[in-house]
Amino acid sequence: MARESTEEGAEFDARIEVAPNSEEAQVRPASLTEYIGQREIVDNLISYIKAALLRKEPLDHILLSGPPGLGKTTLARIVAHEMGARFSQVTAPNIKRPGDLAKILSALGAHDVLFIDEIHRLPAPAEELLYGAMEDRSIDITVGDGTLANSIQITLPPFTLVGATTRPGDLTAPLRTRFGIPFHLEFYAADDIERILTRAARIWKMQPENAATRAISRRARSTPRIALHLLRRVWDYVLADSADLQKQVTAADAERAFERMHIDAEGMTRLDRRFMLSIAEHYEGGPVGLKPLSAILAEDLATLEDYVEPYLVRRAFIKRTARGRMLTREAYKHLGITPGKGGTGELWG
Ligand code: ADE
Repeated sequence: MARESTEEGAEFDARIEVAPNSEEAQVRPASLTEYIGQREIVDNLISYIKAALLRKEPLDHILLSGPPGLGKTTLARIVAHEMGARFSQVTAPNIKRPGDLAKILSALGAHDVLFIDEIHRLPAPAEELLYGAMEDRSIDITVGDGTLANSIQITLPPFTLVGATTRPGDLTAPLRTRFGIPFHLEFYAADDIERILTRAARIWKMQPENAATRAISRRARSTPRIALHLLRRVWDYVLADSADLQKQVTAADAERAFERMHIDAEGMTRLDRRFMLSIAEHYEGGPVGLKPLSAILAEDLATLEDYVEPYLVRRAFIKRTARGRMLTREAYKHLGITPGKGGTGELWG
C-alpha cells in the first residue's frame, strides 16, 4: 500500500502494514509485562485474564478500538499468549461470504483467540453469523444447493473473539454490545515511545544516543508503529553512509534522515502539510468536509480519516466541528502562514 511519490526523495508513509516477519515483528512484545504504555488497558487485562484462568474459562470477547499503529494486533496476540491459547487472525474485508467465516469459526479449538481486524468492514451476512457465534457459540450453516439445501447447526468450542477497529462508530449496536470487554487505545506518551524505541534498538543491536531516541520520539506522532519505522529508516541512512554496524546513531543523524523523508519538527509528513495547507488555501481555514479534501489531494477518504486526521486533531492542528474540519491558529503557526492571507504556494511543494 505504499504511496507513490512523484517528488524527489523518499516519502514516509505510516500506512504500510506490518508483515509477519518484518523487523517490527521481532520487537513485538510477547507478554503484558513487556508491553509499554496503555497502562489502564494492561492493568485491566491482567485482572480479567487472571480471573478467566482461575475459572478455567475463555476470556470474554474483546473489542479494541483506536487509530492505526497503536498496538491492537499486538495486544490480541498477547491475550492469546497469556491465556496459553492458540491465536488466529483474519482481516474482515477478506471475509466475503458467511461461509468464509463459518470455515474459520469451525476450525477453532477450545479457548482459541480469533482476531478479526477492521471488524467494522465485515459484510452484514457474515456479521449476523457472528452474533450467534459470540453469544451462544453456535452457528447455522447451509449445506447443499437449491432444493437440497439444508441448514445445520454447529456448536463451537468456547473461544475468545478479539475485534479491532479504527472506527468504533461504524460498528452496529448488535455487534458492539456483544463484546464484554471494550477498550479504546490512546495515543502514547512521549516517554513511553522513547522506552519502546530503546527496547527495539536493543533487540535490533543498534546504538542510538538518547538525544537521537528523543528526536525520533518527538516525530513519531505518539504512535509506536511510526516510531519504529522512523528508527529503522534513520538506521538505514546511517548504515548506508557509514557501512559501520557499530556506529552510534546521533541526533544529527536523525535530523538528516528526517529531512530526507520530508518529516518536519512535529513529525508532520508532506501529506499532513498538504492536508492542512489545502484547508488554508482552498477553504480559508474551513470548515470543510473530508470529501472535497480527498478530491483536492487525490487521496482516498479512508486514508485521510484513519491515518491523517486523528493525529492532527489530537495535536490540535485541526478542529472537528458540526460543519466540517477547521484549521486552528496552532496549525497556521506551524505552517508559517497567516489566516486569511491565502497560501504560500507550498501546497504542492
Ligand atoms: N513495540 C511496539 N509497541 C510496543 C509496546 N507497546 N510495548 C513494547 N514494545 C512495543
